[in-house]
Amino acid sequence: MSAQGSRLLSRLQGKVAIVTGGGSGFGAAIARRFGEEGAKVIVTDINVEGGEKVAAQNPANLVFQRMDVTQESDWKAIVEWAFSKFGGLDVLVNNAGTSYQNKPTVEVTDDEWERVFKVNVKSIFLSVKVVLPRLIEQGKGGSMINISSTGATRPRPGLVWYNASKGAVTNATKGLAAEYGPYNIRINSVAPLLSGTGLFSMFTGMKDTPENRQKLVENVPLGRLTEADDVANMCLYLASDEGSFINGTEMVVDGGKCI
Ligand SMILES: NC(=O)c1ccc[n+]([C@@H]2O[C@H](COP(=O)([O-])OP(=O)(O)OC[C@H]3O[C@@H](n4cnc5c(N)ncnc54)[C@H](O)[C@@H]3O)[C@@H](O)[C@H]2O)c1
Repeated sequence: MSAQGSRLLSRLQGKVAIVTGGGSGFGAAIARRFGEEGAKVIVTDINVEGGEKVAAQNPANLVFQRMDVTQESDWKAIVEWAFSKFGGLDVLVNNAGTSYQNKPTVEVTDDEWERVFKVNVKSIFLSVKVVLPRLIEQGKGGSMINISSTGATRPRPGLVWYNASKGAVTNATKGLAAEYGPYNIRINSVAPLLSGTGLFSMFTGMKDTPENRQKLVENVPLGRLTEADDVANMCLYLASDEGSFINGTEMVVDGGKCI
């Protein structure tokens, strides 16, 4: 049992979810949180070691499948697998994402641009093409959650194409929500502020020192950066029936930074 103790956890009981990029960071926290609340969760990633580790933490509800979100064949295989193993699908979290090192935008290479748009945007295009027809056919609605970024609407120097890719995520989310709402398929984005470890230098272009962290935190009314569980809890709300009238919204998880 998790840190939630013996409290009855069932906000996602009976639901089946796919979480992409579930092998680390936000995706791992989303998968764990969904599993705690009773969902059957297919944790997917190209990082097999990370994904298997996450799934092993709750073998009753979490299962790992390798999947590259840029490959249509992998999308087809994962949806088939979800339907044959669990009898359907209710929730898809498009979380897998990537960036390049923060730097002058004139120095971004073709390869970096293409990788960012393939992993962050084409993945959602493919998920729509493969998953939505199955949800429509299934006929019981669903929830798609696309992980965007505060940079989608508040871009800053040095990460222009990463932020533009997230702008596409936020914009496409709204268009999709308008188009597929009539099927009771709710489509929302979650826009987190920068999170702590690992990607700090990549996203900010600054060394990860206490002084540099302090500089960033000073502009956040709640005085800290994003924790993975902040994102997981927002996704839980959107995935659950509590979010049943929330559609096409960008849920900003930033402690008030973007006010
Ligand atoms: N960390 C932040 O500060 C931050 C802030 C705002 C938004 N985001 C977004 O949150 C999401 C999760 O990021 P994170 O910080 O947890 O990063 P992370 O690097 O810890 O996790 C991303 C996961 O996606 C996987 N992945 C990458 N390419 C893939 C592919 N082609 N197919 C399948 N999986 C692939 C990676 O293996 C990794 O496990 C991303 O969309 C990111 O852009 C992150």
